[in-house]
Amino acid sequence: MNATIKLEKKHFPVLLDELISIISPLYGGSFIDCTFGQGGYSKKILEHKQNKVFAIDRDEKTFLDSEIFKKKFGKRFNYQNITFREIDKINLIYDDIKAVLFDLGYSTIQIKDPSKGISFNSKGKLNMRMGINQFSAHEVVNKMSLESLQKIFKYFGEEKKSKIIAKKIVLLRKKKIIQTEDLINIINLVKKAKKTKIHNATKTFQSLRVFVNQEVSQLIYGLINSFKILPVGGMIVVITFHSLEDKIVKFFFKNYSENKNTSRYLPEKKKTKQLFSLIKKKPIFPSKEELKINPPSRSAKLRYAIKINDSNDFIDFLKKFEHLLNIEKLSNHL
Ligand SMILES: C[S@@+](CC[C@H](N)C(=O)[O-])C[C@H]1O[C@@H](n2cnc3c(N)ncnc32)[C@H](O)[C@@H]1O
Repeated sequence: MNATIKLEKKHFPVLLDELISIISPLYGGSFIDCTFGQGGYSKKILEHKQNKVFAIDRDEKTFLDSEIFKKKFGKRFNYQNITFREIDKINLIYDDIKAVLFDLGYSTIQIKDPSKGISFNSKGKLNMRMGINQFSAHEVVNKMSLESLQKIFKYFGEEKKSKIIAKKIVLLRKKKIIQTEDLINIINLVKKAKKTKIHNATKTFQSLRVFVNQEVSQLIYGLINSFKILPVGGMIVVITFHSLEDKIVKFFFKNYSENKNTSRYLPEKKKTKQLFSLIKKKPIFPSKEELKINPPSRSAKLRYAIKINDSNDFIDFLKKFEHLLNIEKLSNHL
């Protein structure tokens, strides 16, 4: 009985072996774990006595695990409860940063935490805040305009029925405050029951989580700011869980690793500076063995790149995703 509870409460670190073989902690150095969670990656890195880890997590509940780490690893471990887009503001006491790690998404603990309201099985007031948020899904669903809701569902969840779901929400909230169960009922009615394993509300819930946690700007500025503090030769490793995240990471690494403008007819100044060396162009997926023991890893993709040059110019990256950053800004009206 106890063992079952323990298992359910433990987060299974995704692609751990693959990540460790890429960052090679055996050779020593300092690492930044931007998504500490229960510290699956940090622990593995700190097993080598010459290594140091600076860990970040926006969920204040990860503080408890960080205290256990501090006791065990002493000065080799440091933790701050901030969002990773502020990575350039941390008091980085270690030098020689070998790699910055991002394991995006939610830990099992967060998904199973009823107070966070992340899963479809949640009840009552909508929430979806991971930590350090300005607003919750309750305000989004109960206050935002039909047009804004439609954009959020369409662009952050790729939900084809975004318009009708938004319309039904606006209609129902004239009569009552919308709670988690009401939202699920609306989506089920609009999408009808289908014989697939994927829950009808998957896309809408994803879009609300992305919006509430401002995940697009977090990722874009998290990548830019981690690049800024990383020395040349250091590595950025990102594990994504849905196509929106993967598109952002893929563009960042590819755009700045290829000198796409190789045509001699185009002006020299338009060439993109090469900032990264990409060892692998394709992402790394979990092995069959991992999928068997940890089915939620099925949507994970790992990409990594090695910094080869410094730069402060990320205009094309910001332009490419400007439309998504503008949707996030709709929250200014809340
Ligand atoms: C998938 S879990 C990481 C699990 C971790 N690798 C482990 O082995 O336990 C993702 C974690 O990242 C944190 N997180 C997500 N977005 C963040 C952000 N923008 N800034 C800081 N932490 C974030 C979440 O709170 C969560 O604890």
